[in-house]
Amino acid sequence: MKNIIIRSMFLLTIPLLIMSCSGTDSIPTNTSPTSTPDPTSTTAPETVIENTATVEVQASGVEVSLEIGSANGDELLFDKDSLSAPALSTITLTFTNNSNTQQHNWALVQDGTKDSVATAGIGYSYSDWIPTDDTRVFANAKLLNPGESDVVTFTAPAAGTYQFVCTFPGHNMTMYGTFNITD
Ligand code: CU
Repeated sequence: MKNIIIRSMFLLTIPLLIMSCSGTDSIPTNTSPTSTPDPTSTTAPETVIENTATVEVQASGVEVSLEIGSANGDELLFDKDSLSAPALSTITLTFTNNSNTQQHNWALVQDGTKDSVATAGIGYSYSDWIPTDDTRVFANAKLLNPGESDVVTFTAPAAGTYQFVCTFPGHNMTMYGTFNITD
């Protein structure tokens, strides 16, 4: 008889527990909508990736080499009369003086100014014959003794036609070329 009474009391408590639990369960279900906007947020970064890809193309490096007297020793000539690189690219110029007796330098200058920049450079023997604080000069390599070489890294200017020249006194008449900066 006692067992029957205990069982019936236990069975009565089960519905009460279910009712109390179902009442509290309805509150946490309201937090689920925060996960639904995720599909729209993942599409936004794709447009950002496209923008960084174009920046990487502009930042790619360009290597340019230039030699003096590689064929004829002490002739006052560069081994190339034209060079080319994309605008705003990082240019690494390897500049080698193969002459036996002559000193040479190298400067990237505004188109049509190779002679006037060289003339101005005569007053700047202390800075390798390159005029300092001259807006016509975009980049330069130091004065090299025979057999020396140098590596210069600089950012290409805007697209256009430029000249390169050796500004050592008297060399600019034959030691020059065209530097094409492309879009
Ligand atoms: Cu020279």
